[in-house]
Amino acid sequence: MGTDVDRHYSTNAETSRLARTPHGRLEFLRTQELLRRVLTTRAKVLDVGGGTGVHAEWLARDGHSVHLIDVVAAHATAAATLPGVTAVVGDARGLPVADNSVDVVLMLGPL
Ligand SMILES: C[S@@+](CC[C@H](N)C(=O)[O-])C[C@H]1O[C@@H](n2cnc3c(N)ncnc32)[C@H](O)[C@@H]1O
Repeated sequence: MGTDVDRHYSTNAETSRLARTPHGRLEFLRTQELLRRVLTTRAKVLDVGGGTGVHAEWLARDGHSVHLIDVVAAHATAAATLPGVTAVVGDARGLPVADNSVDVVLMLGPL
């Protein structure tokens, strides 16, 4: 991935994106509501482009096993500090994950 992507996501405060505006808070709550509706049993979740772990954090707290991949190293590093979350640097276009190795794949944002 080129440095433009890195610069774009590094300068747009990913950690607070879903908290600093009413639209962001609505997106967070609606996403959480929809995911909780379908994730009714403990699941192995792959959060692709998961940023600093805004969804990974509560998913892990809900009891799911969460592995996050993000192309920006600082995001993966921040996410890896969250309890119950593992995280690595990686590109959605070539996931470093075996086929059929997770129950759920999230891709919220990178597209
Ligand atoms: C708009 S943020 C969304 C973060 C989080 N999923 C959310 O819903 O708030 C997009 C994230 O995708 C990451 N990203 C962008 N292109 C990516 C790619 N090709 N592979 C992996 N991550 C990517 C960015 O670094 C950023 O953390």
